[in-house]
Amino acid sequence: MSNKPDLALALELLKNPKYPRTAKYDPEWLVGLDMGCPTFWLLERLCEAMELRPGMRVLDLGCGKAGGSIFLAKEYGLQVWAADLWISPNENWQRIRDAGLEAHVFPIRAEANKLPFAEQFFDAVIAVNSLFFFGTDDVYLRHHLVNIVKPGGQFGIVVPGFYNEFQGDLPATVPDHLKVYWESCMLYTWHSAEWWRRHWLKTNQVEVELADNFPDNEGYQTYLDWERIIRYKEKLAEDDAGRNITFVRLVARRRT
Ligand SMILES: C[S@@+](CC[C@H](N)C(=O)[O-])C[C@H]1O[C@@H](n2cnc3c(N)ncnc32)[C@H](O)[C@@H]1O
Repeated sequence: MSNKPDLALALELLKNPKYPRTAKYDPEWLVGLDMGCPTFWLLERLCEAMELRPGMRVLDLGCGKAGGSIFLAKEYGLQVWAADLWISPNENWQRIRDAGLEAHVFPIRAEANKLPFAEQFFDAVIAVNSLFFFGTDDVYLRHHLVNIVKPGGQFGIVVPGFYNEFQGDLPATVPDHLKVYWESCMLYTWHSAEWWRRHWLKTNQVEVELADNFPDNEGYQTYLDWERIIRYKEKLAEDDAGRNITFVRLVARRRT
């Protein structure tokens, strides 16, 4: 839930030279695609840690309004399947056409537990701010995701999470200032980078190349900046003041 976005702040922050690719886009367009996170900043840093080459087939899993899919096609020359459950492919197709990317981005309605793709179809799967809805299931990677990527292909994941797992019995041990968000933001599916690393490694399907909170505290800072730009009613990052909340980045490769 949010009030009207702060467009003046968006203009200021989205032209940040630290994110030269994102800075090329119209801040108002970026803000209009919001579904809870600064997709473009996160994607820019995620892709730096991946090996992406023009022409690769990539699944944008839980693509939302497909802004990230458009970014991936434009910035890296990828062919992108923009798959989502809640947002209609008709709506996304309109955006893709407006961007002139009809030959590069393909919208599809898909349920993450029943992905309609051939085995080994993709060179990579990218998922920004979506995997915590379905991917915390222990069997998800093995039973629903890994097979659609080629051996040696990559996974690039961003999820909201915590620097460290909370200890003791939950939700009792959740810090008081986060208790109000536990249910509404589904914090019980949020985890640390180390949790995700072990969660995927134990399936024996992938090598985990990177599991971190983004360099230079950007996992938290981007969360906070976006929260201010969009003016969410729930001020999670502001209330947390850098203690627990961060975006988590995971890069893995299917074993050959
Ligand atoms: C928070 S939004 C993020 C969207 C987009 N990646 C972005 O960065 O703006 C999460 C997305 O995950 C998708 N999602 C949630 N559960 C899903 C499922 N079971 N199968 C496919 N997509 C799902 C939703 O449709 C939603 O658009």
